[in-house]
Amino acid sequence: MYLRFRKFMKGLSSRSYRITQEGAFAVLAKAKEAEARGKNVIHMEIGEPDFDTPENIKRAAMDALAKGATHYTPTPGIAELRMAIAEKVSADLGVNVDWKNVLVTVGCKEAIFASIMSVVEDGDEVIYPNPGYPAYESVTAYAGGKPVPLRLSESNGFRMTPEEVNELVTNRTKAIIINSPHNPCGSVLRKEDVKGLVEIAEDAGAFLISDEIYYPILFDGLKHYSPLSFAREDNVILVDGFSKRYAMTGWRLGYAVVPSGLVDPMTKLLNNMTSCPSQFVQYAGIEALKGPQDSVRKMVNTYESRRNAVLEELKKVEGITYLKPQGAFYLFINVQKVLSRVGMSSEQLVVKLIEDYGVAVLHGSSMGSYGEGFIRISFANSIENLLEGISRLGRAFSSMLSQ
Ligand SMILES: Cc1ncc(COP(=O)(O)O)c(C=O)c1O
Repeated sequence: MYLRFRKFMKGLSSRSYRITQEGAFAVLAKAKEAEARGKNVIHMEIGEPDFDTPENIKRAAMDALAKGATHYTPTPGIAELRMAIAEKVSADLGVNVDWKNVLVTVGCKEAIFASIMSVVEDGDEVIYPNPGYPAYESVTAYAGGKPVPLRLSESNGFRMTPEEVNELVTNRTKAIIINSPHNPCGSVLRKEDVKGLVEIAEDAGAFLISDEIYYPILFDGLKHYSPLSFAREDNVILVDGFSKRYAMTGWRLGYAVVPSGLVDPMTKLLNNMTSCPSQFVQYAGIEALKGPQDSVRKMVNTYESRRNAVLEELKKVEGITYLKPQGAFYLFINVQKVLSRVGMSSEQLVVKLIEDYGVAVLHGSSMGSYGEGFIRISFANSIENLLEGISRLGRAFSSMLSQ
Protein backbone atom coordinates (compact mmCIF):
# COMPACT_ATOMS: atom_id res chain seq x y z
CA MET A 1 0.00 0.00 0.00
CA TYR A 2 2.77 2.41 0.96
CA LEU A 3 4.66 1.67 -2.24
CA ARG A 4 1.60 2.40 -4.31
CA PHE A 5 1.18 5.72 -2.51
CA ARG A 6 4.82 6.72 -2.89
CA LYS A 7 4.62 7.16 -6.66
CA PHE A 8 2.15 10.02 -6.13
CA MET A 9 4.54 11.95 -3.90
CA LYS A 10 5.66 14.38 -6.52
CA GLY A 11 6.78 17.24 -4.36
CA LEU A 12 5.58 20.77 -3.82
CA SER A 13 3.93 23.11 -6.27
CA SER A 14 6.45 25.24 -8.15
CA ARG A 15 4.75 28.33 -6.74
CA SER A 16 5.66 27.20 -3.22
CA TYR A 17 9.29 27.92 -4.05
CA ARG A 18 8.49 31.44 -5.19
CA ILE A 19 6.99 32.74 -1.98
CA THR A 20 9.18 34.47 0.63
CA GLN A 21 8.59 35.90 4.08
CA GLU A 22 9.36 39.10 5.96
CA GLY A 23 12.94 39.45 7.24
CA ALA A 24 11.96 41.57 10.26
CA PHE A 25 10.63 38.51 12.07
CA ALA A 26 13.93 36.66 11.59
CA VAL A 27 15.95 39.63 12.91
CA LEU A 28 13.63 39.91 15.92
CA ALA A 29 14.21 36.19 16.62
CA LYS A 30 18.01 36.72 16.45
CA ALA A 31 17.81 39.70 18.80
CA LYS A 32 15.60 37.77 21.25
CA GLU A 33 18.02 34.86 21.18
CA ALA A 34 20.91 37.23 22.02
CA GLU A 35 18.79 38.65 24.88
CA ALA A 36 18.15 35.14 26.18
CA ARG A 37 21.95 34.76 26.42
CA GLY A 38 22.00 37.86 28.66
CA LYS A 39 22.84 40.49 26.03
CA ASN A 40 21.22 43.91 26.30
CA VAL A 41 19.68 44.78 22.90
CA ILE A 42 17.93 47.98 21.79
CA HIS A 43 15.14 47.12 19.35
CA MET A 44 14.79 49.27 16.25
CA GLU A 45 14.02 46.45 13.80
CA ILE A 46 10.32 45.92 14.21
CA GLY A 47 7.61 47.72 12.24
CA GLU A 48 5.07 47.49 14.98
CA PRO A 49 3.74 50.36 17.12
CA ASP A 50 5.00 50.08 20.71
CA PHE A 51 1.73 51.61 21.98
CA ASP A 52 -1.10 49.58 23.42
CA THR A 53 -4.42 49.52 21.52
CA PRO A 54 -6.57 52.46 22.77
CA GLU A 55 -8.82 51.58 25.72
CA ASN A 56 -12.13 52.36 23.95
CA ILE A 57 -11.30 49.84 21.21
CA LYS A 58 -10.38 47.10 23.68
CA ARG A 59 -13.61 47.79 25.62
CA ALA A 60 -15.68 47.50 22.44
CA ALA A 61 -14.14 44.07 21.77
CA MET A 62 -14.83 42.94 25.34
CA ASP A 63 -18.45 44.18 25.16
CA ALA A 64 -18.89 42.36 21.85
CA LEU A 65 -17.48 39.16 23.35
CA ALA A 66 -19.80 39.49 26.35
CA LYS A 67 -22.73 39.81 23.95
CA GLY A 68 -21.71 36.61 22.14
CA ALA A 69 -19.94 37.98 19.05
CA THR A 70 -17.98 34.76 18.66
CA HIS A 71 -19.40 33.49 15.39
CA TYR A 72 -18.86 33.54 11.64
CA THR A 73 -19.92 36.68 9.82
CA PRO A 74 -20.54 37.21 6.09
CA THR A 75 -17.17 36.85 4.30
CA PRO A 76 -16.85 40.54 3.29
CA GLY A 77 -17.50 41.57 6.90
CA ILE A 78 -20.46 42.79 8.92
CA ALA A 79 -22.43 45.49 7.10
CA GLU A 80 -22.03 47.99 9.97
CA LEU A 81 -18.22 47.83 9.72
CA ARG A 82 -18.21 47.97 5.91
CA MET A 83 -20.41 51.08 6.15
CA ALA A 84 -18.14 52.65 8.77
CA ILE A 85 -15.10 52.02 6.54
CA ALA A 86 -16.87 53.44 3.47
CA GLU A 87 -17.88 56.52 5.47
CA LYS A 88 -14.36 57.12 6.84
CA VAL A 89 -12.61 56.54 3.50
CA SER A 90 -15.14 58.81 1.75
CA ALA A 91 -14.69 61.59 4.32
CA ASP A 92 -10.89 61.36 4.52
CA LEU A 93 -10.28 61.11 0.77
CA GLY A 94 -13.14 63.30 -0.44
CA VAL A 95 -14.65 60.48 -2.51
CA ASN A 96 -17.89 58.59 -2.54
CA VAL A 97 -17.24 54.94 -1.66
CA ASP A 98 -20.15 52.51 -1.74
CA TRP A 99 -19.99 50.20 1.31
CA LYS A 100 -20.67 47.20 -0.96
CA ASN A 101 -17.22 47.77 -2.52
CA VAL A 102 -15.56 47.35 0.88
CA LEU A 103 -14.22 43.91 1.79
CA VAL A 104 -13.03 43.43 5.37
CA THR A 105 -9.91 41.26 5.65
CA VAL A 106 -7.62 39.60 8.18
CA GLY A 107 -5.09 42.44 8.21
CA CYS A 108 -3.97 44.55 5.28
CA LYS A 109 -1.73 41.63 4.33
CA GLU A 110 -4.72 39.49 3.38
CA ALA A 111 -6.10 42.38 1.31
CA ILE A 112 -2.75 42.58 -0.55
CA PHE A 113 -2.66 38.83 -1.12
CA ALA A 114 -6.28 38.57 -2.29
CA SER A 115 -5.97 41.63 -4.57
CA ILE A 116 -2.86 40.38 -6.35
CA MET A 117 -4.14 36.79 -6.60
CA SER A 118 -7.43 38.05 -8.05
CA VAL A 119 -5.95 40.12 -10.87
CA VAL A 120 -2.53 38.67 -11.76
CA GLU A 121 -2.05 35.62 -13.94
CA ASP A 122 0.89 33.84 -15.58
CA GLY A 123 3.27 36.27 -17.25
CA ASP A 124 1.44 39.42 -16.13
CA GLU A 125 3.82 42.18 -15.12
CA VAL A 126 3.42 44.03 -11.84
CA ILE A 127 5.39 47.21 -11.19
CA TYR A 128 6.18 47.75 -7.51
CA PRO A 129 8.54 49.84 -5.36
CA ASN A 130 11.87 48.21 -4.48
CA PRO A 131 12.86 48.61 -1.68
CA GLY A 132 9.31 48.10 -0.53
CA TYR A 133 6.98 45.95 1.50
CA PRO A 134 8.08 42.37 0.67
CA ALA A 135 4.60 40.94 0.02
CA TYR A 136 4.22 42.88 -3.27
CA GLU A 137 7.04 40.97 -4.96
CA SER A 138 6.48 37.68 -3.17
CA VAL A 139 2.74 37.41 -3.89
CA THR A 140 3.16 38.57 -7.50
CA ALA A 141 5.66 35.74 -8.06
CA TYR A 142 3.39 33.31 -6.22
CA ALA A 143 0.52 34.27 -8.52
CA GLY A 144 2.71 33.45 -11.54
CA GLY A 145 3.26 37.08 -12.46
CA LYS A 146 6.50 38.83 -13.23
CA PRO A 147 7.56 41.31 -10.54
CA VAL A 148 8.95 44.45 -12.19
CA PRO A 149 10.86 46.43 -9.54
CA LEU A 150 11.01 50.18 -9.67
CA ARG A 151 14.25 51.11 -7.95
CA LEU A 152 13.65 53.85 -5.40
CA SER A 153 16.66 56.07 -4.96
CA GLU A 154 17.74 58.85 -2.65
CA SER A 155 18.11 61.19 -5.62
CA ASN A 156 14.34 61.26 -6.22
CA GLY A 157 13.53 61.34 -2.49
CA PHE A 158 12.68 57.60 -2.54
CA ARG A 159 9.47 58.49 -4.41
CA MET A 160 7.97 56.35 -7.16
CA THR A 161 7.68 59.01 -9.84
CA PRO A 162 5.28 58.77 -12.83
CA GLU A 163 8.20 59.29 -15.24
CA GLU A 164 10.07 56.26 -13.92
CA VAL A 165 6.95 54.09 -13.78
CA ASN A 166 6.09 55.07 -17.36
CA GLU A 167 9.42 53.66 -18.54
CA LEU A 168 8.60 50.27 -17.07
CA VAL A 169 5.08 49.98 -18.52
CA THR A 170 4.60 47.40 -21.29
CA ASN A 171 1.53 45.82 -22.84
CA ARG A 172 1.86 43.06 -20.20
CA THR A 173 1.58 45.48 -17.27
CA LYS A 174 -1.38 44.25 -15.26
CA ALA A 175 -0.94 46.21 -12.07
CA ILE A 176 1.07 49.00 -10.51
CA ILE A 177 1.52 48.92 -6.74
CA ILE A 178 2.14 52.10 -4.79
CA ASN A 179 2.66 52.70 -1.08
CA SER A 180 2.55 56.15 0.48
CA PRO A 181 3.66 56.92 3.16
CA HIS A 182 6.30 54.36 2.36
CA ASN A 183 7.77 51.45 4.26
CA PRO A 184 10.81 51.37 4.60
CA CYS A 185 11.81 54.80 3.20
CA GLY A 186 9.34 57.13 4.95
CA SER A 187 8.76 58.91 1.63
CA VAL A 188 5.41 60.43 0.67
CA LEU A 189 3.96 60.79 -2.83
CA ARG A 190 2.99 64.29 -3.91
CA LYS A 191 -0.34 65.21 -5.43
CA GLU A 192 1.13 65.39 -8.94
CA ASP A 193 2.85 61.98 -8.47
CA VAL A 194 -0.44 60.33 -7.57
CA LYS A 195 -2.33 62.05 -10.41
CA GLY A 196 0.37 61.01 -12.88
CA LEU A 197 0.34 57.42 -11.66
CA VAL A 198 -3.45 57.27 -12.01
CA GLU A 199 -3.15 58.45 -15.63
CA ILE A 200 -0.45 55.92 -16.44
CA ALA A 201 -2.45 53.03 -14.97
CA GLU A 202 -5.57 54.13 -16.84
CA ASP A 203 -3.71 54.45 -20.15
CA ALA A 204 -2.12 51.03 -19.64
CA GLY A 205 -5.48 49.47 -18.69
CA ALA A 206 -3.80 48.28 -15.50
CA PHE A 207 -4.98 48.05 -11.92
CA LEU A 208 -3.51 50.53 -9.47
CA ILE A 209 -3.13 48.88 -6.06
CA SER A 210 -2.60 51.55 -3.43
CA ASP A 211 -1.34 50.47 0.00
CA GLU A 212 -2.30 53.33 2.32
CA ILE A 213 -1.78 51.64 5.68
CA TYR A 214 0.32 54.54 7.02
CA TYR A 215 -1.84 57.35 5.62
CA PRO A 216 -2.54 59.36 8.79
CA ILE A 217 1.09 59.01 9.93
CA LEU A 218 2.40 62.12 8.18
CA PHE A 219 4.81 64.78 9.45
CA ASP A 220 5.49 68.48 8.87
CA GLY A 221 1.82 69.15 8.08
CA LEU A 222 1.93 67.11 4.84
CA LYS A 223 -1.29 65.94 3.21
CA HIS A 224 -2.15 62.46 1.99
CA TYR A 225 -3.28 61.86 -1.60
CA SER A 226 -4.97 58.66 -2.73
CA PRO A 227 -5.51 57.54 -6.34
CA LEU A 228 -9.15 56.95 -5.41
CA SER A 229 -9.59 60.73 -5.38
CA PHE A 230 -8.38 61.14 -8.98
CA ALA A 231 -9.43 57.95 -10.77
CA ARG A 232 -11.85 58.17 -13.69
CA GLU A 233 -11.83 54.43 -14.30
CA ASP A 234 -12.84 51.60 -12.00
CA ASN A 235 -9.26 50.29 -11.68
CA VAL A 236 -8.09 51.39 -8.24
CA ILE A 237 -7.78 48.88 -5.40
CA LEU A 238 -7.19 50.52 -2.02
CA VAL A 239 -5.68 48.27 0.64
CA ASP A 240 -5.47 49.43 4.21
CA GLY A 241 -5.77 48.26 7.79
CA PHE A 242 -6.05 49.03 11.47
CA SER A 243 -2.60 47.70 12.53
CA LYS A 244 -0.51 50.84 12.38
CA ARG A 245 -2.66 53.86 13.19
CA TYR A 246 -4.73 52.19 15.93
CA ALA A 247 -1.83 50.04 17.23
CA MET A 248 -3.83 46.90 16.44
CA THR A 249 -1.24 44.65 14.78
CA GLY A 250 -2.28 41.55 16.69
CA TRP A 251 -6.00 41.98 16.04
CA ARG A 252 -5.53 41.20 12.32
CA LEU A 253 -8.04 43.58 10.79
CA GLY A 254 -7.77 45.29 7.41
CA TYR A 255 -9.80 46.00 4.31
CA ALA A 256 -9.81 46.53 0.59
CA VAL A 257 -11.95 48.96 -1.39
CA VAL A 258 -12.29 47.30 -4.78
CA PRO A 259 -13.85 47.94 -8.19
CA SER A 260 -17.36 46.42 -8.50
CA GLY A 261 -16.15 43.66 -10.83
CA LEU A 262 -13.76 42.41 -8.17
CA VAL A 263 -16.22 42.19 -5.27
CA ASP A 264 -17.53 38.74 -6.10
CA PRO A 265 -14.31 36.92 -7.12
CA MET A 266 -12.32 38.41 -4.28
CA THR A 267 -15.05 37.53 -1.76
CA LYS A 268 -14.88 33.92 -2.96
CA LEU A 269 -11.09 33.89 -2.50
CA LEU A 270 -11.39 35.39 1.01
CA ASN A 271 -14.07 32.84 1.79
CA ASN A 272 -11.67 30.03 0.88
CA MET A 273 -8.86 31.56 2.91
CA THR A 274 -10.33 32.71 6.20
CA SER A 275 -14.16 32.70 5.90
CA CYS A 276 -14.21 36.06 7.71
CA PRO A 277 -12.24 38.10 10.24
CA SER A 278 -13.18 37.43 13.91
CA GLN A 279 -16.60 38.81 14.73
CA PHE A 280 -15.68 40.61 17.99
CA VAL A 281 -12.62 42.14 16.28
CA GLN A 282 -14.89 43.60 13.62
CA TYR A 283 -16.96 45.30 16.36
CA ALA A 284 -13.73 46.73 17.77
CA GLY A 285 -13.00 48.05 14.26
CA ILE A 286 -16.29 50.00 14.27
CA GLU A 287 -15.30 51.66 17.54
CA ALA A 288 -11.81 52.43 16.17
CA LEU A 289 -13.33 54.29 13.22
CA LYS A 290 -16.28 55.94 14.92
CA GLY A 291 -14.84 56.57 18.40
CA PRO A 292 -12.55 59.46 19.40
CA GLN A 293 -9.46 59.84 17.17
CA ASP A 294 -7.30 61.70 19.69
CA SER A 295 -5.19 58.60 20.43
CA VAL A 296 -4.26 58.43 16.73
CA ARG A 297 -3.21 62.09 16.76
CA LYS A 298 -1.22 61.52 19.95
CA MET A 299 0.65 58.57 18.46
CA VAL A 300 1.42 60.50 15.25
CA ASN A 301 2.76 63.43 17.30
CA THR A 302 4.92 61.03 19.29
CA TYR A 303 6.34 59.49 16.10
CA GLU A 304 7.15 62.95 14.83
CA SER A 305 8.97 63.91 18.06
CA ARG A 306 10.91 60.65 17.92
CA ARG A 307 11.80 61.25 14.29
CA ASN A 308 13.13 64.69 15.17
CA ALA A 309 15.16 63.36 18.10
CA VAL A 310 16.59 60.55 15.97
CA LEU A 311 17.55 62.97 13.17
CA GLU A 312 19.36 65.16 15.69
CA GLU A 313 21.29 62.21 17.13
CA LEU A 314 22.15 60.82 13.68
CA LYS A 315 24.08 64.01 12.91
CA LYS A 316 26.77 62.63 15.25
CA VAL A 317 27.10 59.34 13.34
CA GLU A 318 29.81 59.21 10.72
CA GLY A 319 29.85 57.36 7.39
CA ILE A 320 26.11 57.36 6.66
CA THR A 321 23.60 59.31 4.58
CA TYR A 322 19.82 59.45 4.92
CA LEU A 323 16.75 61.49 4.03
CA LYS A 324 14.30 63.05 6.45
CA PRO A 325 11.26 60.72 6.62
CA GLN A 326 7.98 62.48 5.87
CA GLY A 327 5.65 59.76 7.10
CA ALA A 328 5.27 56.20 8.48
CA PHE A 329 7.73 55.45 11.31
CA TYR A 330 10.91 54.41 9.58
CA LEU A 331 14.23 55.87 8.57
CA PHE A 332 16.21 54.25 5.77
CA ILE A 333 19.94 54.77 6.17
CA ASN A 334 22.58 54.38 3.47
CA VAL A 335 25.45 52.43 5.06
CA GLN A 336 27.34 51.60 1.85
CA LYS A 337 30.52 53.26 3.07
CA VAL A 338 30.57 51.15 6.25
CA LEU A 339 29.73 47.96 4.33
CA SER A 340 32.49 48.41 1.79
CA ARG A 341 35.01 49.14 4.54
CA VAL A 342 34.19 45.92 6.43
CA GLY A 343 33.34 43.84 3.34
CA MET A 344 29.92 42.78 4.56
CA SER A 345 26.37 42.62 3.27
CA SER A 346 23.67 44.56 5.12
CA GLU A 347 22.42 41.24 6.50
CA GLN A 348 25.84 40.35 7.91
CA LEU A 349 26.11 43.85 9.37
CA VAL A 350 22.79 43.38 11.20
CA VAL A 351 24.07 40.22 12.90
CA LYS A 352 27.29 41.99 13.93
CA LEU A 353 25.35 44.97 15.30
CA ILE A 354 23.25 42.69 17.50
CA GLU A 355 26.12 40.52 18.71
CA ASP A 356 28.87 43.12 19.19
CA TYR A 357 26.99 46.36 19.84
CA GLY A 358 23.56 45.33 21.25
CA VAL A 359 21.45 47.14 18.66
CA ALA A 360 18.91 45.52 16.31
CA VAL A 361 18.02 47.11 12.96
CA LEU A 362 16.60 45.66 9.74
CA HIS A 363 18.85 44.95 6.76
CA GLY A 364 17.72 46.80 3.64
CA SER A 365 17.98 43.69 1.46
CA SER A 366 15.03 42.19 3.36
CA MET A 367 12.91 44.91 1.71
CA GLY A 368 14.04 43.98 -1.82
CA SER A 369 17.27 43.63 -3.78
CA TYR A 370 17.64 47.40 -4.20
CA GLY A 371 17.54 47.80 -0.43
CA GLU A 372 21.04 46.31 -0.21
CA GLY A 373 23.46 48.91 1.14
CA PHE A 374 20.85 50.27 3.56
CA ILE A 375 19.45 49.56 7.02
CA ARG A 376 15.99 50.50 8.32
CA ILE A 377 15.36 51.76 11.80
CA SER A 378 11.87 51.96 13.25
CA PHE A 379 10.68 54.63 15.72
CA ALA A 380 8.58 52.10 17.60
CA ASN A 381 10.55 52.59 20.81
CA SER A 382 10.93 55.29 23.47
CA ILE A 383 13.06 58.36 22.72
CA GLU A 384 15.55 57.25 25.42
CA ASN A 385 15.96 53.82 23.83
CA LEU A 386 16.14 55.26 20.31
CA LEU A 387 18.89 57.69 21.35
CA GLU A 388 20.82 54.89 23.02
CA GLY A 389 20.33 52.72 19.91
CA ILE A 390 21.65 55.48 17.62
CA SER A 391 24.60 56.08 19.89
CA ARG A 392 25.43 52.32 19.72
CA LEU A 393 25.21 52.55 15.90
CA GLY A 394 27.55 55.54 16.04
CA ARG A 395 30.11 53.60 18.12
CA ALA A 396 29.84 50.60 15.80
CA PHE A 397 30.30 52.59 12.59
CA SER A 398 33.17 54.72 13.85
CA SER A 399 35.02 51.60 14.99
CA MET A 400 34.32 49.82 11.67
CA LEU A 401 35.38 52.83 9.60
CA SER A 402 38.65 53.13 11.49
CA GLN A 403 39.59 49.49 10.82
C1 LIG B 1 3.35 48.81 3.75
C2 LIG B 1 2.66 47.77 4.56
N1 LIG B 1 1.53 47.21 4.07
C3 LIG B 1 0.89 46.25 4.74
C4 LIG B 1 1.32 45.80 5.96
C5 LIG B 1 0.57 44.69 6.65
O1 LIG B 1 -0.22 45.14 7.67
P1 LIG B 1 -1.23 44.24 8.49
O2 LIG B 1 -0.67 44.08 9.85
O3 LIG B 1 -2.52 45.01 8.51
O4 LIG B 1 -1.40 42.95 7.78
C6 LIG B 1 2.49 46.35 6.52
C7 LIG B 1 3.02 45.85 7.80
O5 LIG B 1 4.14 46.06 8.19
C8 LIG B 1 3.17 47.37 5.80
O6 LIG B 1 4.29 47.94 6.27
